[in-house]
Amino acid sequence: MTHRPRRLRQNAAFRELVSETHLRAEQLILPVFIKEGLTTPKPIAGLPGVVQHTPESLALEADLAVSAGIAGIMVFGVPDQRDAAGSEACNPEGILSSTVRTLRQQVGDHLLIIADLCLDEFTDHGHCGVLDENGNVDNDRTLEVYAQMAVVLAQAGAHMLGTSGMMDGQVAAVRNALDKAGFTDVAILAYAAKYASAFYGPFRDAVESQLEGDRKTYQQDTRNIRESLREVRLDAEEGADIIMIKPGLPYLDVIAAAHAEVDLPIATYVVSGETAMIEAAASAGVVDRQAGIMEVLTSVRRAGASIICTYWALEVSSWLRQRG
Ligand code: PBG
Repeated sequence: MTHRPRRLRQNAAFRELVSETHLRAEQLILPVFIKEGLTTPKPIAGLPGVVQHTPESLALEADLAVSAGIAGIMVFGVPDQRDAAGSEACNPEGILSSTVRTLRQQVGDHLLIIADLCLDEFTDHGHCGVLDENGNVDNDRTLEVYAQMAVVLAQAGAHMLGTSGMMDGQVAAVRNALDKAGFTDVAILAYAAKYASAFYGPFRDAVESQLEGDRKTYQQDTRNIRESLREVRLDAEEGADIIMIKPGLPYLDVIAAAHAEVDLPIATYVVSGETAMIEAAASAGVVDRQAGIMEVLTSVRRAGASIICTYWALEVSSWLRQRG
């Protein structure tokens, strides 16, 4: 026999020697939730270990993130007050901006503070934008609010903004607003292809989403990849710094294609429902939890996402440290 591929798999040293894909703590981002007025952290159903934070518990979490050596935390705010326009999103003293400000003062440049730039947590109808008189999401009026929100979050000290609303032209609108206000160094993590997915369930509980219906007029159709690559190209042309595909595991083909399409770093978000699936399978005793988590994250990495947003970021970084 000439070809014996098993020769390179005979022991751990050979397997390490030929390993192609490596997870690094420095490329993990931890999503976190802060809820206005909360006095004790509140667990989120379906996501063991994930909570709605108080300012105190979030400060501790940020310290853990710094010592874990992960890249950053992505902050989602849950406000007390919601209205049709999502006004709290642009309030410099609102829950998101004030949290970003405090966190940035705490961590400096030791951890990237990434703010979610979207209106869904702030609107009383739960959509990612403002509505027109017929109840449809008004793309261009939403862009004006995003532009304003971007400047407020940059002033608060965000290193990077996650444009997650899937409005047309959002990257250009945010880039222009940031540049005009002098924030040329604030980066844009562009959710280029964010699918209208069934896997956002636990997240919507976490942010107490008011949404009825769905987001199919703006988020991407599961059946399409060519359309997603168009979104990827548009975001790149509009000035995105990093391209995100979301969710992760069900869209490995899209991650791989985006990686081939543009020369920007590619990120993915292993979302709440994907996390809940593994946690549920692990607690049912049918999947080895640690091995399952590592397999999922290694797979999105192999597909081409160098940057991974994951609720497991702190735990995984401790496992990576143990392995040395
Ligand atoms: C919306 C947003 C969503 C998530 C992140 N940002 C959900 C949605 O579109 O309803 C989902 C993340 C997750 O499920 O972990 N701005």
